[in-house]
Amino acid sequence: MISQPLTLPCGHTIKNRLIKAAMTEGLADKRDDATIGHQTLYKTWSEGGAAVLITGNIMVDRRYLERAGNVVVEDESGLAQLKAWAKATHQGNSELWAQISHPGRQCPRLVNTQPLSASDVQLNMIANFGKPKPASREDLQDIIQRFGNTARILKQAGFDGVQIHSAHGYLLSQFLSPITNKRQDEYGGSLENRAHLLLQVIASVRQAVGDDFPISVKLNSSDFQKGGFSEEECLQVVDWLNEARIDLLEISGGTYEQLEFLQQSAEETRASSLKREAYFLSYAEKIKQVAKMPVMVTGGFRTLQGMNDAISAQHTDVIGLARPFCLAPDLPKQLISQDLALLDDQAKHLVLGKGYWGPASSSKSMQALNNQAQAGWYYHQIERLAKGQNSNEKYSVRKALFAHLSNDFKRAIKRKFA
Ligand SMILES: Cc1cc2nc3c(=O)[nH]c(=O)nc-3n(C[C@H](O)[C@H](O)[C@H](O)COP(=O)(O)O)c2cc1C
Repeated sequence: MISQPLTLPCGHTIKNRLIKAAMTEGLADKRDDATIGHQTLYKTWSEGGAAVLITGNIMVDRRYLERAGNVVVEDESGLAQLKAWAKATHQGNSELWAQISHPGRQCPRLVNTQPLSASDVQLNMIANFGKPKPASREDLQDIIQRFGNTARILKQAGFDGVQIHSAHGYLLSQFLSPITNKRQDEYGGSLENRAHLLLQVIASVRQAVGDDFPISVKLNSSDFQKGGFSEEECLQVVDWLNEARIDLLEISGGTYEQLEFLQQSAEETRASSLKREAYFLSYAEKIKQVAKMPVMVTGGFRTLQGMNDAISAQHTDVIGLARPFCLAPDLPKQLISQDLALLDDQAKHLVLGKGYWGPASSSKSMQALNNQAQAGWYYHQIERLAKGQNSNEKYSVRKALFAHLSNDFKRAIKRKFA
């Protein structure tokens, strides 16, 4: 049942099985520090009853962001703001875990025209991403050390756990995938080599935070791309993670090129997964056979029954929810008290219409624009919650697209001149 506590391998107990999955906030100031917006947003969410709130991407290197507006933690200069964020969250009753991340090639040109990746395979999306530089050995040593250092500072600031982002086509996921990793050294080629960086990053983080601090890893069940990181490879990596002393494995899937993790809604998924609503659940079932650590599945959970069934059947230990939190910040309380049986996230309505824009799925660039519009719509809700306002379900998806593109542009320019 979703209301049951869960004790993690590090000995730490979380109070129930509902976790808010990471959603990038875009609320940092021009120095990439956390703001009062983070405090308001997370205090609101924390009063909603989730066991854990996982932050959006917190970047380990100021040069490489997923988006201008990301918080960066690479030294102690923003410690006071991080402490205020953790303190505000703890006024409610949820824990705060930081998702720590490096975007690799998924770093927009506005932030850096030459991102860093496993190899020089460029992300081709509306010309928004530069050709990456393959990371040198020194770069890799630096990245490993940065993940540890960022985790150490976040623990010092009062965060209750960290999550290493190794999914959705970000740097660690780029190393895992044969499409983006063409290296010939000990970080490329065999799966063992491609997983080397992830395992070294986990070891660095564990060393930095000690034995009793929760560490989660977010991993793709698959990239859902021909020739990419596959389901079989995922199972092997999970087996290695069993030895890596992690406390919670979050299962997701897809990359910027294949946005599997943002499927529209349960109604639009295949019949087989519709039965169990959450689209990665069938993969998670296999992962659970291998995983010795608790597993969290995120993506598509929308009914109380679906969540409780998935836990009872031991297909997952924890339910990850993201988009519904933008509209109903207190949904864990409502689910646990059984006042709410069905969550609505509006995703299925968020399609740029025909006529003016053309059919939503007519071309790759149209799909990319549509995805940006959807992301912008959720960003708008997050920004409202961060100002202490209620969400606005009526917000236009076209407006969301323009607002998101222009806000990210303005933020990127501001930080360049900061
Ligand atoms: C606005 C938005 C921002 C997101 N940002 C992140 C992020 O920073 N890190 C991450 O791992 N996933 C991110 N995701 C993906 C979610 O964590 C989650 O995997 C996805 O939304 C599917 O879950 P859901 O169906 O409950 O929304 C984001 C999703 C949305 C909608």
